[in-house]
Amino acid sequence: MCGEGVPVITLDGPGGAGKGTVSRLLAQELGWHYLDSGALYRLVGLAALERGISLTDEAALAELARNLDAQFEPSDGGAEPRIYLQGREVTAALRSENCGEAASRVAALGRVRHALLERQRRFRRPPGLVADGRDMGTVVFPDAPLKIFLTASAEERARRRYKQLKDKGMDVRLDDLFKEIEARDARDRNRSQAPLKAAAEAVEIDTTGMEIAEVVQRVLALWRERCAQESV
Ligand code: C5P
Repeated sequence: MCGEGVPVITLDGPGGAGKGTVSRLLAQELGWHYLDSGALYRLVGLAALERGISLTDEAALAELARNLDAQFEPSDGGAEPRIYLQGREVTAALRSENCGEAASRVAALGRVRHALLERQRRFRRPPGLVADGRDMGTVVFPDAPLKIFLTASAEERARRRYKQLKDKGMDVRLDDLFKEIEARDARDRNRSQAPLKAAAEAVEIDTTGMEIAEVVQRVLALWRERCAQESV
């Protein structure tokens, strides 16, 4: 039931459902690696914006994705990793709604997704990986022994993102964020390439009204129930 090789827990779901924070805390708790796959799409989006590459030029964007010179530097205590593009720190820039929007556009392109596939799989190293994204359980790690699909109402997700960005000192409006979240959800769910959906065997957790710590404990309990005796 727990599969072969290095264990992976996948967390998929729409933006703002709490995947990032939950995944980082889980990785910390288990002593595992963490993959923020959304950051890879954001990096491609940012690099494209900076270099003036059109967000519809699939060949050029796939080339950019294949040759992306990016580094992730893990942080302690469940904090966000620092991210570098060609040696320059871009952690804060990546979180802007501009980058999120560009990421969601380049992520709809099959050749870009394909170019990032192996890079994502290389994060699977002992003792284990927590992978956060939209297609972690369906496409990138289909053999993951535990797949989670996190959701929350669009209102709650907009409120969480608002707080996150405000805490970072960014100037944002709640109703704009709500509209952007809905538009991004629709694009992610309706695209033909790896659309956002729960893997058939995923455990769905609606996090509306739940504390982050509660969600982390739920996932840890699921992991221990299913697999801990075999792999820890
Ligand atoms: O998770 P995050 O908001 O950083 O992701 C940004 C965008 O990247 C998403 O809206 C989605 O379009 C895309 N993405 C994806 N597949 C993933 C992770 C992110 O298509 N595994």
